[in-house]
Amino acid sequence: MSRTVYVNGAYVPEEEAKVSVFDRGFLFADGIYEVTAVLDGKICEWEGHVARLERSLGEIGMKMPMSVSGLLEVHREMVKRNNLEEGAIYLQVTRGATDRDFLMPEGLEQTVILFTQAKKLTGEKTGLRVVSVPDIRWGRRDIKTVQLLAASLMKTEAKKQGKDDCWMVEEGFVTEGSSNNTYIITKEGKIITRNLTNSILPGITRKSVLRLVKELDMEIEERPFTIEEAQNAAEAFMTAATSFVTPVIEVDGVGLGGGTPGPVTKRLIEVYIEESRKASC
Ligand code: PDD
Repeated sequence: MSRTVYVNGAYVPEEEAKVSVFDRGFLFADGIYEVTAVLDGKICEWEGHVARLERSLGEIGMKMPMSVSGLLEVHREMVKRNNLEEGAIYLQVTRGATDRDFLMPEGLEQTVILFTQAKKLTGEKTGLRVVSVPDIRWGRRDIKTVQLLAASLMKTEAKKQGKDDCWMVEEGFVTEGSSNNTYIITKEGKIITRNLTNSILPGITRKSVLRLVKELDMEIEERPFTIEEAQNAAEAFMTAATSFVTPVIEVDGVGLGGGTPGPVTKRLIEVYIEESRKASC
């Protein structure tokens, strides 16, 4: 069945949705995106996603394409028109279309598109096997730009090796997964995840998970960790809007916790889903 997508103010069947070949998103990856989860037909983590969108746009000299309430309305309309119960909404805002020039033009009409992807987010999770790869991305990973070639190449490399995802490594320390934040749980029960700098994306799921972890009185250390530390950890997991909390059960061929999701990760999966349902809008 054809989806309804949003393109510059219009809701159209996906086959009819078009943007210009001169769009700077297409030619220069000059655009920002957000991916927001949908549970029970409701939007999850709205405030976090919209705040990060505004920040990312500002970092590359762009403005919000419409008011926050207008944007929420479009998200809700997309859920309704696509009968989306569970899955994600993708939003992309680019600087717009003009003749190709490295100099960024001012005053262009932005291109705004949204589409939905149905996906089961709450099912049973067996855990992911990851491989380390060098992080070859640019230096401003805190901005959610549509420049995703490096991450896409690295994920494809992991799949070629028969694994599920990559953990990117820079100067000896794990930065992120291809499209997720990464965590290890030490044998003493401490959760370690990389601190926020320009090296990683400030995940919206990460923020909520760390809040929940604190509420559960678990210890957190925000600092970089190595692949070796991960291989010696009791458990590991990753977070993203499209997969919530997901166990990682193998790192570079070394199984963690007997190769099955551990108890702390399982608890966090449950708690996060419960909280997301409550806070969705
Ligand atoms: N990616 N790090 C990177 C590099 C990401 O691309 C993502 C999300 C995250 C997790 O952020 P959040 O919890 O806000 O989803 C971390 C989305 C899901 C994507 O590109 O599809």
